[in-house]
Amino acid sequence: MRPNFFHHLHPPTIPAKQSRWRYTLGAGGIAVFLSLVLLVTGALEMFYYIPTQAEAAQSIQTISYLVPFGGLVRNLHFWAAQLLLIVVAVHLVRVVFTGAYTPPRRFNYLLGLALFILSILLDFTGYILRWDQGIQWALVVGTNLLKTIPWIGESLYRLLIGGAELGDATLIRFYAWHIVGLILLASILGIWHLFRVRRDGGVALPPPNLRADHERISRFELVRREVLAMIFVSAALLLLAAFVPAPIAPPITELTAISGDVRAPWFFLWVQEMLKWGDPFFWGILVPLFMLVLLAIIPYFFPQPAEHEIGSWFPKSNRLAQIVVAVLASAVLVLTLIE
Ligand code: HEM
Repeated sequence: MRPNFFHHLHPPTIPAKQSRWRYTLGAGGIAVFLSLVLLVTGALEMFYYIPTQAEAAQSIQTISYLVPFGGLVRNLHFWAAQLLLIVVAVHLVRVVFTGAYTPPRRFNYLLGLALFILSILLDFTGYILRWDQGIQWALVVGTNLLKTIPWIGESLYRLLIGGAELGDATLIRFYAWHIVGLILLASILGIWHLFRVRRDGGVALPPPNLRADHERISRFELVRREVLAMIFVSAALLLLAAFVPAPIAPPITELTAISGDVRAPWFFLWVQEMLKWGDPFFWGILVPLFMLVLLAIIPYFFPQPAEHEIGSWFPKSNRLAQIVVAVLASAVLVLTLIE
């Protein structure tokens, strides 16, 4: 068999362990595939979506109910976006729980973290584009959080929403970030991340002299496994998209009147819960920022995984990093569930 374009994206052979499901969970690869699905379905939605206050929610109804296959495309876009956040979080946890962030992969860990933040921002900006009554908490409370930042808060707020008050300019700004700004950044960092995976020697393993398992597989086998994962994920996505429609509520009429039961998008419910505890700057900005900084310094300031333990689950040598990530993840999960 002659190698095609996709085979050439990989080295001729790789250690078998680098492509074992039970090691990588396939999460990084699945995240790449979901990102591609999002690009294609998002581009299709752009043919009908209208980014104005008066027509945004209406145009999404049109896509969902009137455009041939529009509902399917929108549901695929929605579900791929939700799954992406979960899969990237799983990938992050896997990288920490297998000590895969040690040099030379420290910088790539930071690139990954930036991609995680970009995925959350893409999900958030996409959610705002609905401009229906369901997004009011995120729009009003979320953007007002910026104002609580000392000195620069007010200017940041105006910059983000495109003026002193929420309106058409806000929607255009979110649209531009969603379809150009964030996508451009995510594409550059995403390609860089993948390039670094390859340049750093693929998925993390101990040096060859400390490896017990010397089995290798060819790139043909690797691509076969990738195609299998894609088929599996596509089937799951199609099932979700066919049976669970993406939400859309009536358009926003009065932006200032948010009723008591409006909710944040699911990935920010933990922040909404914390905001009930007091100072919005502390709970809504400083605490999430502190969590991010904690994650970012793991490869630089925490005890490093021992060489022979890299790539095995739960190495003893980097227990502290595992505990920190487990505590952060559990806190986010519990706060999300009780909100
Ligand atoms: C959209 C987001 C992301 C995509 C598409 C992505 C994609 C990938 C892929 C395809 C790999 C190859 C191995 C694998 O499949 O596990 C990989 C490896 C890696 N990723 Fe990510 N990643 C993302 C986010 C992250 C995050 C959030 C982190 C951690 C903060 C991270 C850190 C790493 C590291 C250190 C490696 C190399 C070490 C290893 O795999 O053992 N990535 N990534």
